[in-house]
Amino acid sequence: MSNGAGAPPVFEARGVSYRYRGVAALDGLSMRVERGERVALIGANGSGKSTLIRVLAGLAFAESGQVSFLGEAVTQERLRDESFFFPFRRRVGVLFQNPDVQLFNTSVFDEVAFGPLQLGWPRDEIRAVVERTLDRMGIAHLRNRAPHRLSGGEKKRVALASVLVLDPEVLLLDEPTAALDPGTQSEVVRLLASWANGPRTVITATHDLDTLEEIADRCYVLERGRIAGEGSPMTVLHDVGLLTEAGLLRPQHHKHGRDVAQPHPHAHWGEV
Ligand SMILES: Nc1ncnc2c1ncn2[C@@H]1O[C@H](COP(=O)(O)OP(=O)(O)O)[C@@H](O)[C@H]1O
Ligand SMILES: [Mg+2]
Repeated sequence: MSNGAGAPPVFEARGVSYRYRGVAALDGLSMRVERGERVALIGANGSGKSTLIRVLAGLAFAESGQVSFLGEAVTQERLRDESFFFPFRRRVGVLFQNPDVQLFNTSVFDEVAFGPLQLGWPRDEIRAVVERTLDRMGIAHLRNRAPHRLSGGEKKRVALASVLVLDPEVLLLDEPTAALDPGTQSEVVRLLASWANGPRTVITATHDLDTLEEIADRCYVLERGRIAGEGSPMTVLHDVGLLTEAGLLRPQHHKHGRDVAQPHPHAHWGEV
């Protein structure tokens, strides 16, 4: 999936460690994402997916190891430099796992319009693009509601809308389909599927193994802050040993009377 000789990866993490007051969240983790790739991060609760997304997004900083964006180090110092900060923030859209962190405007419309207003888009264009995005996320009827008073799933849709409205070329999505009803969930999956073959680069943390093949070209399996496995969704989904070890399968569902790992096209992983 490399794009041409010598093109730097969109994101690269090398030997990244991160701790929350003594709790190890990332432990010497290395990964890379090429331009136009859709990469999924899968792993049990607490395996480090959200922390990795925050570190890639330049919202938390590795205590050892390096993170780079298009070959440039993402460090606290670099982000203080406006010539790096503004293009980085504009090109990389981030959806947080917890939408409460993301929503701060007084109405849903203003929330979704906020980014475009900041970028100084023409008013008519903002109105049109915001309406389109509200429609797509099924939240047009919520336009005058206060985001912080919505249900969890509604908040998630508003947060997604506020990211997607800017159509960023790189997306870091932390559990974009969690807490969504099935209709909205498949809408989001369709959107992620439509981004196959670039040019957008998409990194998605997810628990939803059923849609992995639709939303990702490649995935990393995280386990205790490390990469436990990597490969195409097909390869990873068929690696029962890896998935079981990573806590992504319920072992009692895999007694097929043989010791060898079997391909599982019938997808009987449940909620993780
Ligand atoms: N704010 C925090 N304070 C302390 N520990 C945290 C905090 N956030 C996450 N952790 C810990 O860091 C590890 C990785 O968490 P996280 O990145 O949220 O994993 P995931 O997104 O895969 O569920 C877990 O052990 C978790 O308990
Ligand atoms: Mg998480």
